[in-house]
Amino acid sequence: MKKINKVSIQAQIKSALQAQNAVLVAHYYVSGNLQDLAQETGGLVSDSLEMARFGQNCDADTIIVAGVKFMGETAKILSPEKTVLVLDKNATCSLDEDCPIEDFSKFCDQHSDRKIVVYANTSAEVKARADWVVTSGSALKVVKHLHEQGHKILWAPDKHLGRYVQNETDADMLLWQGACVVHERFKADALSALKAKHPQACVLVHPESPQAVVNLADVVGSTTALINAVKDREEQTFIVATDNGIFHKMHAVAPHKKLIEAPTAGVGADCESCAHCEWMAMNTLEKLLETLNNQQNEIKIDKNITQQAQHSIQKLLDFTEK
Ligand code: 13P
Ligand code: SF4
Repeated sequence: MKKINKVSIQAQIKSALQAQNAVLVAHYYVSGNLQDLAQETGGLVSDSLEMARFGQNCDADTIIVAGVKFMGETAKILSPEKTVLVLDKNATCSLDEDCPIEDFSKFCDQHSDRKIVVYANTSAEVKARADWVVTSGSALKVVKHLHEQGHKILWAPDKHLGRYVQNETDADMLLWQGACVVHERFKADALSALKAKHPQACVLVHPESPQAVVNLADVVGSTTALINAVKDREEQTFIVATDNGIFHKMHAVAPHKKLIEAPTAGVGADCESCAHCEWMAMNTLEKLLETLNNQQNEIKIDKNITQQAQHSIQKLLDFTEK
């Protein structure tokens, strides 16, 4: 009985997408059924950088973003003429929440000699205040470029990603002290013990994780980079330190490989295995259908903010196309 309902909701969504000339863009962390639907209907499943690029280049009238609020806002900033809907307006991100525009703006004013580089996981207002927007897949390249040009950097909001980029590039970076509540919970001690149990395994780590966890990695990279590592590397077992929603795609690209969740338990842990973003988990098939049927949860952004933020995001898209 349950299966019949599931098929029927997916069929309803497909026909609503078609009727409204709408496209579904999903992040790798949302549920597998949403990722499959995006793929089957000519939409996209990807990391935050390619989600932004795809929305801008597609010719749909409506973009539906299955992810979190900043992803919907980025899509709207890049395609202000399109309708952009999200499945739940309360689906946010701790990095975005940790960086309110008023405080951030003061911080920028105090360090006006620095180029302002912000992670995509921020509000439209914070992006509008920045010189550059970057994603996890592009941060190293952009900061290296700015460093080579002699710029000092003000970085926000993720302190772990900022520190990783600083170590890799040697750039002069002043870091805002935000963190991702999901990646911050990975535990280095427990990961070391797990590595010892699986000495042949390759350890994949998203750079939003703490330094001690990054230090244990064989590969550090964006969600796309981690998926590609599972597909392309010869190891048969992978320990994965990022949101476990990514396993859906990893299984699809390498069905015979073994994937193990990096531990979130261990010294100082507050959960057994909490490697799943509560905001990403707010995206469901039911909410997608409701959003389409009612044309609800539309993203709206002030015109000036849109124009300013567009400038700093577009720089990134142009730069990463080279
Ligand atoms: P990616 O840009 O690697 O997809 O990461 C987005 C994100 O929110 C990670 O927590
Ligand atoms: Fe934000 Fe972390 Fe969730 Fe990504 S996983 S959306 S960084 S809270």
